[in-house]
Amino acid sequence: MKTFMSLITGLALTGFMAGNALADAAAGKAAFEANKCAECHYTQGPAQEKTIDDVWAKKGPELWYAGSKFNADWLGAWLADPKPIRLLAFNSLSDPNPGDHPKLAAGDAVSVKDFLMSLTAAEVEAGSVKAKKNPKGKLIFTKKMPCSGCHQYPDKSGNRGGKSGPSLVEAGLRLNPDWILAYLQHPAVFKPVKDMPNFVGILSDKDMINVSRHIASFKP
Ligand code: HEC
Ligand code: HEC
Repeated sequence: MKTFMSLITGLALTGFMAGNALADAAAGKAAFEANKCAECHYTQGPAQEKTIDDVWAKKGPELWYAGSKFNADWLGAWLADPKPIRLLAFNSLSDPNPGDHPKLAAGDAVSVKDFLMSLTAAEVEAGSVKAKKNPKGKLIFTKKMPCSGCHQYPDKSGNRGGKSGPSLVEAGLRLNPDWILAYLQHPAVFKPVKDMPNFVGILSDKDMINVSRHIASFKP
């Protein structure tokens, strides 16, 4: 009887929590608008950039697939205490990142996280990439392909790599491994006009999985 009761309570609680997450996503959307986040970020897919001028006119990264891109725990913590991701200022090739991203109060950070995590892209297949140290992926990232020329990554001797792309030092905490693969496989969906070279036809699907695994293993 006791087990039965705790099962019922458990079910009721799960239902309550699921309902609550939806309520939080709606509250998060309202908080996103109230905090003027939409002045720099769009949240409605598909990708809106048609020309390179559209890309350079953007004030912040698009967030319409944020729920597929980010790990929820990282996102909630970052919104409450944002730290620079790109070493250079957004859309600049020389100025340092000013590190002045707006910060959300703790409650808003949770509900905005729930709102952003509700924004997903169909191209991201759950379970396609396991984060794991991958020697083939490492070879691609640091030697065979120019990835490390544009991206920071953690190395035994400290962080290394170029600065023109987003830093991948925290990628293992920040990014969903399945999204990394989808991003490499479907540039037309995520970055129809882009600064990063297109690796479709250059890297095989297997090598894209290997390099995604390697990136997903990065921890500071
Ligand atoms: C004045 C423009 C501006 C405003 C307002 C702004 N952001 Fe940003 N946001 C940026 C820029 C620029 C970056 C890139 C920061 C970096 O790389 O360090 C960014 C990065 C992000 C990221 C990480 C995206 C990625 O792909 O790396 C998230 C999530 C985010 N912002 C959410 C928000 C939320 C939520 C708000 C409202 C509280 C907000 N932003 C307000 C400009 C803005
Ligand atoms: C010429 C510079 C350049 C090279 C080479 C390059 N990238 Fe990028 N990468 C970028 C830029 C710039 C972005 C930001 C998105 C954009 O503007 O296209 C990016 C974005 C990314 C992202 C998403 C990061 C985020 O937080 O949004 C991943 C993952 C990535 N690159 C992996 C790779 C891999 C793997 C390779 C090698 C096979 C590679 N990159 C080669 C410049 C580069």
